[in-house]
Amino acid sequence: MSREIKSVAVLGGGTMGTGIAGACANDGVRVLLLDVTRQAAEAARERIVAGRPPALDDPAKIELVSTGSFDTDLDQIGDYDWICEAIVEDLATKRQLFARLEPLRRDGSVVSTNTSGIPLRDVVAGMPERLGRDIAVTHFFNPVKVMRLMELIPGEETTADVIDAFAAFCGGRLAKGVVYAKDTVNFIGNRIGCFWMLSGLHKAKAALDAGLDMETIDLLMSQPVGLPPTGLYGLIDLIGLDVMDLVAKNLEINLPADDAGRAFTRFPEAEARMLARGQLGRKTGGGFYRVTKQDDGSRLREVFDLTAEDWRDVRAPADAGHADATALLFADDAAGGFAWELMGGALLYAAGLVPEISDDIVNIDRAMRWGFAWRQGPFEMLDALGPDRVIDRLKSEGTALPAMLQVLSVAGAASFYRADGTEFLGRDGAFAAVPPE
Ligand SMILES: NC(=O)c1ccc[n+]([C@@H]2O[C@H](COP(=O)([O-])OP(=O)(O)OC[C@H]3O[C@@H](n4cnc5c(N)ncnc54)[C@H](O)[C@@H]3O)[C@@H](O)[C@H]2O)c1
Repeated sequence: MSREIKSVAVLGGGTMGTGIAGACANDGVRVLLLDVTRQAAEAARERIVAGRPPALDDPAKIELVSTGSFDTDLDQIGDYDWICEAIVEDLATKRQLFARLEPLRRDGSVVSTNTSGIPLRDVVAGMPERLGRDIAVTHFFNPVKVMRLMELIPGEETTADVIDAFAAFCGGRLAKGVVYAKDTVNFIGNRIGCFWMLSGLHKAKAALDAGLDMETIDLLMSQPVGLPPTGLYGLIDLIGLDVMDLVAKNLEINLPADDAGRAFTRFPEAEARMLARGQLGRKTGGGFYRVTKQDDGSRLREVFDLTAEDWRDVRAPADAGHADATALLFADDAAGGFAWELMGGALLYAAGLVPEISDDIVNIDRAMRWGFAWRQGPFEMLDALGPDRVIDRLKSEGTALPAMLQVLSVAGAASFYRADGTEFLGRDGAFAAVPPE
């Protein structure tokens, strides 16, 4: 059966539901937006027009969005092709809603959950077989209007036509970058991105002890390695230490027993104390950084010095003087040692996750570029560093090669991509054409 999505019922008008409903309406798609109460759904509809950035290029398109409540209007989903669940991240609550909606949707409709961390197999366990065949995870990123990445994850029973329908609609009409992931904890982007952040807090602590300051750490982890200007601490301020803590707790439960990320699911002590006193990031007026308005109208930018555990003025980072990632990661100084530990460590982590989280390197690279704004994905970065050089260093350190570096080494390949990036190294050691974006 081939399926086509022409209308969408979004369940939940929070941050993500509003974003998805807005993206669909902006594309001229008919949307039903339901929430716990009609008022909540109405407020979500308002935010589609008035949010920043506004979801609609033409405010008149809001007419495509009708609203209702789960209690009085759920049966209307029978008129929609895609039932998109975006309610709270709570397994029991999601399962209750799926059990209620399943008899009400029409044959041929497709269903998705926008969960960021609950395994799909737990969502569908014991549910009717039709739901198991018709459901996938559609993991959008916030803000939906801005972020290109959408991770698409089938369940064990999901049929190919369902995945094709989501890929065609989200990749085509919504112009998202669709990445194919697996039903593993945090999928691709957040698995690697959260490893980078959580391991980063620990590796940065060692660097602080070795004399680097926080401003320099953030500088090193931005432009020189092709990451956004927020660096490490600035990015966690944006996300919030409380969110990071929830992510870490979920990882502690769901990471494989031998996963390297297990060493970093607890914050270092100073960050644990920040969490305990509610010093969470931008949303609480300060986390690692804060900006306060002075009596004379000027703004004072301060950093929470993790060693002294006190605020001090932000100072200019020490200019590391390393031209690019290769120069930095192979530099024989404190900055180089830290960058190798953190950035190099994240690249090696990614290289060990094929095929666990993705069948190929292309989807991993795309997820990090589109979801975390890395200039290059992990395998593209490894190519820039020179895989042979990385392998030599790992061997000299007595470190086992992660899976994809092992594949590259055995295949005698010089890089993960060749032919101007049009071919990639597969798990079987052979090169294949990179699929279109
Ligand atoms: N915010 C993000 O950055 C982000 C990114 C990707 C995925 N997600 C996932 O998307 C989903 C929604 O997250 P969000 O950030 O939009 O959350 P949110 O808190 O902004 O919105 C939650 C929605 O759930 C509804 N809700 C609350 N309690 C409910 C209940 N008992 N029954 C039914 N509905 C209930 C709320 O009314 C609201 O519409 C979650 O699964 C989350 O993990 C969030």
